[in-house]
Amino acid sequence: MSSIALPTPLSHAYRFWQTTVGKKAIMATTGVVLFGFVLGHLVGNLQAFEGRAKLDAYGALLRSFPLELYAVRLVLLLCVTLHIVTTVQLALLKSRARPVGYVKKNNAAASYASRTMYWSGPIVLAFIIYHLAQFTFLYTDPRYVEGRIYDNLVLGFQNYWISGFYIVSMILLGMHLSHGIWSMFQSVGILSPAYAPLMKRTAQVLAIVITVGFISIPVAVLAGVIHL
Ligand code: HEM
Repeated sequence: MSSIALPTPLSHAYRFWQTTVGKKAIMATTGVVLFGFVLGHLVGNLQAFEGRAKLDAYGALLRSFPLELYAVRLVLLLCVTLHIVTTVQLALLKSRARPVGYVKKNNAAASYASRTMYWSGPIVLAFIIYHLAQFTFLYTDPRYVEGRIYDNLVLGFQNYWISGFYIVSMILLGMHLSHGIWSMFQSVGILSPAYAPLMKRTAQVLAIVITVGFISIPVAVLAGVIHL
């Protein structure tokens, strides 16, 4: 069967996409973009500690650039999709390369975080879907009002179940990021064996800071530090 002739840059991109290295590169690049968003989102959300006016003004500022906001949303959606598709494809390639399963899996070398990548990822995705339904589309509570980000956030986190769900999801996100950041360091070539332990520790510390940062918000609402 003859292959479809594509214009050169597209055919290069397609051939790159078909290789394992290409898929790994796409997974790493999209991971970096998503990590950048998570970091920026954390900094934005921590303004909840500065009160209603500050957080709502931040939301209003973002909305005052609708074109840019939609461009960012499109890039995020594309990155999440490519990140998931390449993950599934690489996992399938890996299992096909090893058709006979090991009698006893040797997990000693793999860290707990790396072993949990395949289930922490889908749970984080489920969290994001709920999170968008809650705070972006305001579907989950009739008391939520468009643009009242601070009030919506406090009303949401006053519910122990919602806060609990966020806290568990953020811990899983932290585990996912810990291994993801470490892989990112490896992909960009910071892999001198001498630096490996330091880089691994840096990835863990970054993931813990992000997790604790996010968790501090529902905890502060439950503790009454952030209130209506
Ligand atoms: C305690 C943790 C978090 C809080 C309080 C929070 C808060 C919010 C709020 C208030 C919005 C709506 C903003 C607006 O409509 O202007 C939002 C949107 C969003 N959040 Fe979060 N967030 C948290 C964690 C996360 C995490 C961990 C992720 C990703 C892994 C995430 C991904 C998103 C995305 C993708 C949007 C939609 C952005 C947009 O399209 O405008 N959030 N978040």
